Amino acid sequence: MARSKSTKRYTVTSALPYANGPKHIGHLAGAYIPADVYVRYLRSNGEDVVFVCGSDEHGTAIPNQALKENTTPQAIIDKYHALMRDCFYKLGMTFDVYHRTSDPLHHKTSQELFLDLHKKGLLKEEISDQYFDDEAKVFLADRYIVGTCPKCGHDNAYGDQCEKCGSSLSPTELINPKSTLTGKAPVLRPTKHWYLPLDHYEPWLKEWILKSHKDDWKVNVYGQCKSWIDAGLQPRAMTRDLDWGIKVPLEGAEGKVLYVWFDAPIGYISATRALFNELSSNKQNYATPQSEFKNVKEDDWKKYWQDDETKLVHFIGKDNIVFHCIIFPIMLHAQGEFIMPDNVPANEFMNLEGDKMSTSRGWSIEMHEYLEDFPDKPDVLRYALLTNLPEAKDSEFTWKDFQSKNNNELVAILGNFVNRAIVLTQKYFDNKIPARGELMPLDKKLIDHLSTFPNLIGESIETFKFREATSQLMDVARMGNKYFADTEPWKVFSQNPDRVATILNLALQIGANLSILMEPFLPFSAEKLRSILGIDKLNWDSAGSADILTTGHSLGTTTLLFEKIEDDIVEKQIKKLMEKKENVSDENTINAIKAEISYDEFAKMDMRTAKVIAAERVEKSKKLLKLTVDTGLDKRTVMSGIAEHFSPEEMIGKQVTVLVNLVPRKIMGVESQGMILMASDVNGSLRLLQADAEPGSAIS
Ligand code: MF3
Ligand code: ZN
Repeated sequence: MARSKSTKRYTVTSALPYANGPKHIGHLAGAYIPADVYVRYLRSNGEDVVFVCGSDEHGTAIPNQALKENTTPQAIIDKYHALMRDCFYKLGMTFDVYHRTSDPLHHKTSQELFLDLHKKGLLKEEISDQYFDDEAKVFLADRYIVGTCPKCGHDNAYGDQCEKCGSSLSPTELINPKSTLTGKAPVLRPTKHWYLPLDHYEPWLKEWILKSHKDDWKVNVYGQCKSWIDAGLQPRAMTRDLDWGIKVPLEGAEGKVLYVWFDAPIGYISATRALFNELSSNKQNYATPQSEFKNVKEDDWKKYWQDDETKLVHFIGKDNIVFHCIIFPIMLHAQGEFIMPDNVPANEFMNLEGDKMSTSRGWSIEMHEYLEDFPDKPDVLRYALLTNLPEAKDSEFTWKDFQSKNNNELVAILGNFVNRAIVLTQKYFDNKIPARGELMPLDKKLIDHLSTFPNLIGESIETFKFREATSQLMDVARMGNKYFADTEPWKVFSQNPDRVATILNLALQIGANLSILMEPFLPFSAEKLRSILGIDKLNWDSAGSADILTTGHSLGTTTLLFEKIEDDIVEKQIKKLMEKKENVSDENTINAIKAEISYDEFAKMDMRTAKVIAAERVEKSKKLLKLTVDTGLDKRTVMSGIAEHFSPEEMIGKQVTVLVNLVPRKIMGVESQGMILMASDVNGSLRLLQADAEPGSAIS
């Protein structure tokens, strides 16, 4: 067994999903369902486990989505944080805590770690040239720069990473960089940042990963780490020029925030702290209702992060490998008090019906979409994903396969076995567990075989082979069906009811074993099976025995474990997917239609075409231009938030549309007497509304 005696407790994390949109079933297959199987299994073994997750709410992805949805970053994170938390819960994820990185405790935890590293002199302060978009007037986040990958030649690599070869990059390594905001080549401008010298830790990483984890880390994970280390590590800035994120807690760092990949993984620690804070003070905010921790102290989080007898495991998708295996470990190692991950079982990606899964392209099944259509089938999705996990290479989800996994395996093998055992017991033995008589060699073989499964499945789970574990679970039911086929109790009863009593006793013992062994994989069905058998939840070490159910025990309530899914249901899903893809561009361009207004309300607006006769930048504002417009009635000043899209020179002489009777308002000390009307497209770029009319014409 891989579980070693020196492991006292476990800290298990699932990647904190960005709260910039819904998450799809490919994410579930990557970092969530396998983690939950692992944790449920450990808990069933009586292990002390904390399972943490939460929303990643910083980085440029959030303000970017706010722009798209025409709202604020705060509104975006509130919306998607709640959506993800609820979906995870409905899918049976048993996090002890679902935290969020916008929480003040997380800001504090991240700033403390940053300051600690700074005080110890481990961060290098450096003024360097960074890419700046001269047209949009902003420093460009790594993700906003694309170019050719210097490692593999892929021509659409991001400034922080090439998704083709997995190399982690810095923007200046890109060949022919371009700003994704304007498509222009960015220029270099000086700015001050704090760097973590990753290169200093190379010898340590070689020892820790390349030597110590050669045999126990997955090939894909080890390989990525090795190629990264072999290529030579570079110092990496832990701060960014951005206005959304955690403030850099130093003087002279105004307008700068912590790098999202600095703060996000610290989120695991903050989440653990939040859990023990809440539990020790009888509050409940981020601690989940399913958490079973009791009698804890506020400081107990330290045991889960700083004690050598704790085993730390990060479940992630492959695009997160370098952050979890190299950068975050270096941060913690440099600080000195933290443990290192014991394993990082990253998965590859799951495709969908022949194409890459992508929420933005509409080619995805979002968690909430699945749950809306199949609210009573969380386990079917868990099973379809588990049997198809992208553990060693990319895999593919298809609705046909989903249907077939349900109909041909869950219904035909597992459900059918349980149902036959129950129905025959009702028919012949009044719904009670019959007594075993003399055992035949076949029965003894069955009992022996049954006893091997808990270790077999356990070993697969402990070595992160969840596909194999799931198939071994199904083998238990296969064994049961074969036993029925070999013994044919329905044919034997009339001559030999005692023999049938033995057969059904053993079949029901297999059922009881299934209820234990299913728990990590199919928790909702395991619970159903327990109520069918009329038994309580049992631990993993009760499994493997043919004496779980006592003779004479009455079975519980009869229900079907699984139901067949008909063709029309999956055809509907395939159609829905196609339609979603087609609609996605329309949906993106058209914002939700606003509520109706009367003609009178419309007529109150006085809009005119006007000509811009002067334009200048506004000091200390990135966004504002001060415009003077000739409305035909008068010349007036209008402050307009378009400086990131238009230069003053560009605006002079342009014909624009102005709402002239808007209540005047002081903006940056200047009275603005109207509003320039603009059209903004999906990407947030702005266009003027230029009319084919004389300046000064009224619009009606
Ligand atoms: N938000 C990241 C993603 O979705 C994952 C962050 S994992 C963490 O790719 F460790 F940084 F939190
Ligand atoms: Zn590459």
